[in-house]
Amino acid sequence: MKTVISEPLYKGVDEYFNQLFLQNDVIPAKVLEHCKNKEMPAINVAPNQGKLLNFLVKMKGAKRILEIGTLGAYSTVWMALALPENGRLITLDFDENYIKVARESIQIAGLQDKVEIRVGLAADSLAQMVQDNEAPFDFVFIDADKENNPVYLEYALKLSRPGTIIVFDNVVRQAKILDTSDKADNIRGLRRSFEEMAVNPRLDVTAFQTLGLKGWDGLAIALVQ
Ligand code: SAH
Ligand code: DHB
Ligand code: MG
Repeated sequence: MKTVISEPLYKGVDEYFNQLFLQNDVIPAKVLEHCKNKEMPAINVAPNQGKLLNFLVKMKGAKRILEIGTLGAYSTVWMALALPENGRLITLDFDENYIKVARESIQIAGLQDKVEIRVGLAADSLAQMVQDNEAPFDFVFIDADKENNPVYLEYALKLSRPGTIIVFDNVVRQAKILDTSDKADNIRGLRRSFEEMAVNPRLDVTAFQTLGLKGWDGLAIALVQ
């Protein structure tokens, strides 16, 4: 079959897979429904991407997770569900309205003993964590204001140890990442953080494109040496 990549088709493929493989993932589904009801912007990870984060946490055997960018806690819940009994996730956001919904989502998921939300500018919360000698994290998910990715990367590294996995969301943005003349701070921030990662001897990195419910975007995964 010869075909073109059209939006109904690539969204349909995600829907097909999600219907098959995510039908038992009822807690994230409830949380997503809650986020929609509370009119959170639809910028959460797609369900199959949330499940990928869940698998990565499980495969890593991560006990301590750091998330930058909570929104309604949809990605938070996917990751926290993969934690063992004594596992902990700290998630950072500065938007009081989103945080209110996120707290409700965490209650719905029954994860209030594992998840802590820290309210404020993420860079301030991270600086505080470094100052407090917070123990290193096993897994970091960076998904907030992309213009600050270089700052978040620097703090993530301070809060990492060899073996820590750092995942970045939204690294392709419909190929805007290629446009060196793009003056948008988010594209410049993404490019700058990746150029730094490429030459950082503490990091080994891969990145790939995704096409699906969230359109054309991608993920980068860095492994701390
Ligand atoms: N990870 C979520 C989506 C996060 S959307 C999910 O996939 O479900 C990005 C979030 O980053 C928003 O909630 C926004 O409030 C937050 N954010 C943006 N800039 C921030 C900053 N400087 N400090 C803290 N949070 C920020
Ligand atoms: C946006 C942010 C995200 O984290 C995302 O996954 C999609 C879109 C945004 O700010 O537009
Ligand atoms: Mg995102």
